[in-house]
Amino acid sequence: MSYEIAVVPGDGIGPEVVEAAMPVVETACEAAGVSFDATRYDWGSNRYLETGAMLPEDGLDELRGYDAIVLGAVGHPDVPDHVTLRGLRLKITKGFKQYVCARPTRLFEGVTSPLRGYGPGDVDFVVYRQNTEGEYADVGGREYRGFDDEVAVQSAVYTRTGTETIVRAAFEAAVEREKRLTSVTKSNAQAHGMVFWDDVVEDVREEYPDVAVERLLADAAAMDFVRRPDEFDVVVASNLFGDILTDLAAGIAGSVGLAPSTNVDPSGEYPSMFEPVHGSAFDIAGEGVANPIGTVRSWELLFEHLDEPAVARTLRRAVAEQLGDERAPRTPDLGGDAGTVDVASDVRARID
Ligand code: IPM
Ligand code: MG
Repeated sequence: MSYEIAVVPGDGIGPEVVEAAMPVVETACEAAGVSFDATRYDWGSNRYLETGAMLPEDGLDELRGYDAIVLGAVGHPDVPDHVTLRGLRLKITKGFKQYVCARPTRLFEGVTSPLRGYGPGDVDFVVYRQNTEGEYADVGGREYRGFDDEVAVQSAVYTRTGTETIVRAAFEAAVEREKRLTSVTKSNAQAHGMVFWDDVVEDVREEYPDVAVERLLADAAAMDFVRRPDEFDVVVASNLFGDILTDLAAGIAGSVGLAPSTNVDPSGEYPSMFEPVHGSAFDIAGEGVANPIGTVRSWELLFEHLDEPAVARTLRRAVAEQLGDERAPRTPDLGGDAGTVDVASDVRARID
């Protein structure tokens, strides 16, 4: 099979990790008899600084026909973060109904968790984050700017479609994994949206009688990610809680530089998007030391989504082997002093 992939390297370390990962992915594809064309789009903050828009007006139409999208990172010190977020990533996730953000967390052999007592594979769970609404809904406003009675309203929005879609995706994942699902809310403090979320979980779980359901409040979940990360299997959470918990999860698993992410439209009507969890990291941009593994693993998830398990498996094995080899090069986030390209080349060399 051959695929058309749109690639948006974006800002900061985005282009560095995207370009370094590319030969790794090409090699894995060759080994599996799969090919793809990558079409790059120079959308992002530099474009915003030049033209006032992160992407062209017909940008989404342009992306529409691809099999999938790869995003590097978005965010620039000279552009407010809410502008870059709303101007690119949210435009795509919302415009393409990418309801489902799945973020697997795994403690690899060769990587040390900051938590004591956990070894390879002890931490192995996936967070399903609602990706299009909730606390990221663009609903609210500001009035009386600068006055004492200035007011800001930021409303969270939970729709039945949005909530059911993420909850169902999480149950489906739980069926494939260990049949345990943790739903994270804050229903004690947020009696409308989050109690609605709980109700949806109760409705959907009837379709999955074999899955054990645990409910946790977000504050307790943060504590328990640290206290008993080995006990989680599938976690489902709203947009903001999922965002926060997946950074915590990435930290527990040794580095945010290793963490991949999906943004999936489960209906398949639109292309889905795959990206590393880390941001544009301007503090190290241009130094060539960003970890490319989060991007390689995002391609792994992309090929899983495109139902090319052989490519996904090849990438997964190569990454696990590279991390598990104590003499292999490591980027500074993992305590080494190797560069982005050194690590990517070493991952690539492990593919037959
Ligand atoms: C993430 C990031 C983004 C988010 C930022 C860059 C806006 O933190 O993908 O987790 O909050 O969704
Ligand atoms: Mg985040």
